[in-house]
Amino acid sequence: TRFANRKIRTDFVEQLTLDAMAVYSSLQPPADDHAMRQALHERLQTLVASVAPNATLLQFGSSVSGLASKGADLDLTLMPTDPKHQNEALPIEEQAQLVELIAKVMEDSGQMAEVHARPKARVPIVALKDSITGLKCDICMCNQLAVLNSRLLRCYMQLDPRAKPLAFCVKHWAKRRSVNDPYHGSPSSYAWVLLVIHYLQTTSPPILPVLQDLFSHAVPYADAGLVRTPDGREFDCYFYDDVERLRAAMGALPANPASLGQLLIGFFRRYAREFDFVKSVTSIRTGAFLTKHAKNWDKKEAGFRGDRHLFCMEDPFELTHDLGRVMDLPAAAWLRTALKAQSRRK
Ligand code: GTP
Ligand code: MG
Repeated sequence: TRFANRKIRTDFVEQLTLDAMAVYSSLQPPADDHAMRQALHERLQTLVASVAPNATLLQFGSSVSGLASKGADLDLTLMPTDPKHQNEALPIEEQAQLVELIAKVMEDSGQMAEVHARPKARVPIVALKDSITGLKCDICMCNQLAVLNSRLLRCYMQLDPRAKPLAFCVKHWAKRRSVNDPYHGSPSSYAWVLLVIHYLQTTSPPILPVLQDLFSHAVPYADAGLVRTPDGREFDCYFYDDVERLRAAMGALPANPASLGQLLIGFFRRYAREFDFVKSVTSIRTGAFLTKHAKNWDKKEAGFRGDRHLFCMEDPFELTHDLGRVMDLPAAAWLRTALKAQSRRK
């Protein structure tokens, strides 16, 4: 019987790998998706140039990380064209003014099915829906950290062929269970991808390296390094980005042969049974578990939905930002129930 059980289990994991690959394929955008996004990006750039001649729209989010599924939105941020000004602060009032101006230009162009200006939001944005492509698009101001963290995610996704399918499946699972919406107290798509990367950094042996811990002898990443945000704070955004070289070097390390099915089971087991929600923090910056105590996230902070820091995930650049902070007690309990149910179901 033991042999028979093992056989059933092996068959099950092999089938899971095939099913997960099928889900991954079904989520892929059509072949012309990239060209369509580029064309929309260029049209929007032309429109924006009339009100912000010294600024350029840069893509971030899943169009950059390679994790865009069919119909994913296009995330854009307005940045100074001259790299010398890239770190300069743009006061929030000026961001709000720009948002109003851009929204007006978009309205007047007649190319948009929807235009919403949100100048007073914590992150001022213009939300659009393009008539021609049907794509949704958010334009924010000076979000250099998001551009850089999207590039960091892209590098991780290129380092191992299992990373992208696993991230797609987990994002898809979170969407289907409605646990991928920070506005309603669950982790963002971005946060789920950080959890996947962290899991792959902490398997035994590790499948992904820690890019913020590797240093090249050459000058660090051209537009990374020290970044100053519009509110005057500074962030160390260096990471090793020579993916080709690293892939070659990784070939010499002990390989972890886990299949996609095994990794999916392992990911859900991690957050259903193993992760210490009370004490631990996930951190892709270090590829390790940090403690809430060390991050000073073990104190209750009043004023923001009572309890928080219930499921702690450190942002790779904005180290004081816990991406799990959006969760209150009922939301965290609901999420843990969903994770446990998935792990039991396998
Ligand atoms: P889909 O739109 O579902 O395909 O996912 P996405 O990869 O575009 O992720 P999401 O829409 O959640 O976020 C878009 C980008 O915004 C991410 O890639 C990050 O660069 C950035 N971002 C999202 N949430 C946060 C956050 O809480 N903190 C920071 N610093 N950046 C964030
Ligand atoms: Mg997006």
